[in-house]
Amino acid sequence: MLKDKMILLGILLLLISTFATNSSYKIIQDDTNDFLLPDIVTPFNYKLNIAFSKDNLDSKNDTFGGNVEISFYVKKETTTIKLHAPSNKIKIEIGTIAVKDQKFNETTSVLTLNLSEKLAPLTKYVLKANYAADINTKYMRGAYRSSYKNRTGNDEYLIATQFEPTSAREVFPCFDEPKYKATFDISITHPYGTQTLSNAEMDTTLPSAKDTVVTTFKETKKMSTYLVGFIVTKFTFDTVKESGVTYKVWSRDELKGYRKFALEWSKKILLALEAFTGINYATSNTKLDQIALPDSQPAGMENWGLVTYKEKSLLFNGKESSNFTQQSILETMAHELSHQWFGDLVTCHWWDDAFLNEGFATYFQHYLLGDIINELSPWEMDNQFVVDKLQPVLVDDALKNDALTRKVIQPEDIRSKFDSISYNKGASIIRMIANVMGESAFKAGLRKYLKTKSYSNASPSDLFNSLENEKVNLPQKIGVLMEGWFNNPGYPIITATQQDEDLVLSQKQFSYNNDDKAKHAKWYIPISYTLQSDDAKFSSPAPRVWVDPKKDLVIKGAFSGKSANDWVIINSLVSGYYRVNYNGTLWQRIEKQLRENHKEINRLNRAQIVDDIFNLARSDNGLQYSQVFSYLDYLKNETCYYPWTAALASLNFLITRVANQKPLETALHQKSLELMSGVYNSLSLNSSKSDTQITLLKRKLIFSNACKFGAENCTKQVKSLYDAFKATSQPIDRNLRNVVYCYGLRQSQDDKDWEFMWKLYKETESPSEQIEILEALGCTLNDKQLNNYLDLSLKISEIHKQDLPTVWKAVYSNSQEGAKVALNYLIANHAAIKDYYPNAENLLVGMASHVIDNDGIQKLKDFVAKADVDESYKKAGSLAIKTATENVNWIQKRRTDLESYLQLTSGSTITTTFSCLMLITVTLFNYMTV
Ligand SMILES: *[C@@H]1O[C@H](CO)[C@@H](O)[C@H](O)[C@H]1NC(C)=O
Ligand SMILES: *[C@@H]1O[C@H](CO)[C@@H](O)[C@H](O)[C@H]1NC(C)=O
Ligand SMILES: *[C@@H]1O[C@H](CO)[C@@H](O)[C@H](O)[C@H]1NC(C)=O
Ligand SMILES: *[C@@H]1O[C@H](CO)[C@@H](O)[C@H](O)[C@H]1NC(C)=O
Ligand SMILES: *[C@@H]1O[C@H](CO)[C@@H](O)[C@H](O)[C@H]1NC(C)=O
Ligand SMILES: *[C@@H]1O[C@H](CO)[C@@H](O)[C@H](O)[C@H]1NC(C)=O
Ligand SMILES: [Zn+2]
Repeated sequence: MLKDKMILLGILLLLISTFATNSSYKIIQDDTNDFLLPDIVTPFNYKLNIAFSKDNLDSKNDTFGGNVEISFYVKKETTTIKLHAPSNKIKIEIGTIAVKDQKFNETTSVLTLNLSEKLAPLTKYVLKANYAADINTKYMRGAYRSSYKNRTGNDEYLIATQFEPTSAREVFPCFDEPKYKATFDISITHPYGTQTLSNAEMDTTLPSAKDTVVTTFKETKKMSTYLVGFIVTKFTFDTVKESGVTYKVWSRDELKGYRKFALEWSKKILLALEAFTGINYATSNTKLDQIALPDSQPAGMENWGLVTYKEKSLLFNGKESSNFTQQSILETMAHELSHQWFGDLVTCHWWDDAFLNEGFATYFQHYLLGDIINELSPWEMDNQFVVDKLQPVLVDDALKNDALTRKVIQPEDIRSKFDSISYNKGASIIRMIANVMGESAFKAGLRKYLKTKSYSNASPSDLFNSLENEKVNLPQKIGVLMEGWFNNPGYPIITATQQDEDLVLSQKQFSYNNDDKAKHAKWYIPISYTLQSDDAKFSSPAPRVWVDPKKDLVIKGAFSGKSANDWVIINSLVSGYYRVNYNGTLWQRIEKQLRENHKEINRLNRAQIVDDIFNLARSDNGLQYSQVFSYLDYLKNETCYYPWTAALASLNFLITRVANQKPLETALHQKSLELMSGVYNSLSLNSSKSDTQITLLKRKLIFSNACKFGAENCTKQVKSLYDAFKATSQPIDRNLRNVVYCYGLRQSQDDKDWEFMWKLYKETESPSEQIEILEALGCTLNDKQLNNYLDLSLKISEIHKQDLPTVWKAVYSNSQEGAKVALNYLIANHAAIKDYYPNAENLLVGMASHVIDNDGIQKLKDFVAKADVDESYKKAGSLAIKTATENVNWIQKRRTDLESYLQLTSGSTITTTFSCLMLITVTLFNYMTV
């Protein structure tokens, strides 16, 4: 599964706060927990029929019927069977064995059957169930309905499924844990005029009862229940057949012009995966359907042979869509298709190890795609990984207190495993293993892992067993070296110190909060490094030495002879998952090198230095922002995308926290623009044919931030492009559309401008461009427009429900005005919003990082104190209060330093004698320079 970045963020923040408080969340480690099935029954085949009437499809009836025959063995004698089921509307038979009683627990979804006779091992039994279940009308999971307007403006309906991780049980009785793999013979009864698809190839279609047909599919290979899927639609498709696999890309007919791209690339991606894994897709499935759904919770879901996507995550129009959309679609496809091996063929044994699915899919999303794409144009997917996945999750991981293998049992907790830790930390650790072992040994080990665990399940020890047989020179078994990275929360920061001629490396768990005494985990840390006088600098991600968990590492004589005054950079090419701090002179040497010729240091390591220094200032460890700005003054000369991605993430974090303090915010904007002067002047708004993907990314990054920070040169150019577009429909460079829409709109108070963009949204066919416009519509600073926009987000006829979080985030994250409007709107309309969008509390959590003053905190407090507010809001609201309070305290601690550095005077906040002295100095300085 691949979540939308934004939705991931909402959930992530919820978790961060949850774990920071360490109270509302309990981990239950008891194997006999009622939510888990006792490991007695082994199902091996399901014959499943589900029947959807025309009324089911058209919204007139939400209840559907089904029947299933589950063939199974038992591991030991038993008179009790437990399985998951949709409800107690179910009638069960097990051959001639009578069911004495049957109990269904609503909380656990476990159905307990007490039987009149003992079941014995080595005997095949068949459990037959007739049941009724409901279409999920609240959440896009289980079997849910979606709708869209066809060419004549009528509503068309469809039914789709989303079972991962625990929603198969909402649709049919089953043993709904990934380890219970079985084969599936599925048939779907559906209305005339619709088609149905499922995991396996279609076998027959026959008329059934009135107005319906029944479509039967071939038997699947052994697979987990969460990977079962089906859809009932009137969609059309494009197809191609190659190497024994029939590829089809499906969508509503209106979007048929957007399917060719995905069809072509599916083949390339699948072939690359076959080449890497040594296992052909066709051994498991003869077809691959990929479907663009108008409503889907995740961006993509890897149901075996039946991958579902959001429309914007699969459909591409080469003439209109941006190069970023193209990249994001290919990343999502590569992610889901990697899952056909990592996840579908070999599945995590239990959700504790969700990263064995998601970490690998995220890793291949970059590393495999990189290989295919690079033939055409250098996308640097491996470099992009560092700033897109690794650096952001270093932030998340330090805020949480979760190991990669965190234990989960209940469905709500299991859903919370689909977070940046499983995806991005998982992928970062996998990448680190690849760097430690070297590519060919890593690949050989993975092939063995897939081969030995095909159609079965795996845990981290299975992975290590497969990797361990590869001949690699390591200080310990790979399982021993990696244990801490899997089982400890967080990650280390290395401090590098020179002692005479030696280099001393010590480790400590990184934390933003110095009071965090609990954080003292240790790791085996692979150390790659480069010295200034090395002949081949930054040439290898392989470790040269290892830091041991028990003691500091002393590299004898590192600074002897010709390297006496060298700088040293630890973690070449950011090959490992940790931060680095340099003590005293070692830092000064790096700073000098950056100032004199920064290109001597690899660009990924420059990004690392920038990210680490900013995050040291973000933490309470004593480094002040004034020092950071002076250390990183070299940025004025920096024109590379990677260090700038890191720098702007941190600058925006800081600026968001002062967005209500005008002189300080303005001064930080100015300071940021001063640092950006070099890179800004190196770019123009006009693209050229020879631009690489990275240049395109850089242009978007730099111009959007320059306009955001108010650079006049930027806002003027953007406004004139916007005006020209409005007046004459002169098309805007598709890679700059977001920037022009957003900052064009921001400079206007005219309702006509907003309505112009809204009309464009309504008229645009392309799903990805629609999202770009939705993001831009929140850029306005006009309260009335913002409120109106939030009104529209609650109307299904105007904006798809799946896009509601996009709209809200566009409003609350683009400006302090927007953040205030969104909070007030939510408080005033909380019941209606909850009714329409059941996950509404996530909006509150997302907003929390933009609540930065006591006024906002008070509003939140009054809100959670109200009697008529839903419990879920109260819980999220309390977390939001905590986050907002931390925001206020955090900036309070740093305000004096920033104000004096930026030469602002603000008497009210200065309290200590030291600060008063600083104030005097600053004031004098101001007089002298006037
Ligand atoms: C809804 O459909 C189910 C299954 O076909 C049927 O049993 C039930 O009677 C229907 N309900 C209504 C109100 O028509
Ligand atoms: C259902 O399971 C929950 C969780 O174990 C338990 O607290 C509750 O008592 C059970 N309900 C019934 C009716 O047994
Ligand atoms: C649109 O949907 C309506 C209702 O299902 C149907 O009658 C009409 O033929 C459809 N139009 C097209 C162009 O598919
Ligand atoms: C930095 O170096 C100084 C002087 O060598 C030493 O006293 C101090 O402990 C070092 N700091 C760290 C964190 O190693
Ligand atoms: C920019 O680079 C030049 C040399 O290329 C150097 O002289 C100057 O000091 C650098 N500026 C900063 C701010 O580091
Ligand atoms: C951007 O997209 C266009 C159109 O699809 C393509 O011609 C161009 O090569 C792409 N640029 C890069 C750097 O991939
Ligand atoms: Zn996934």
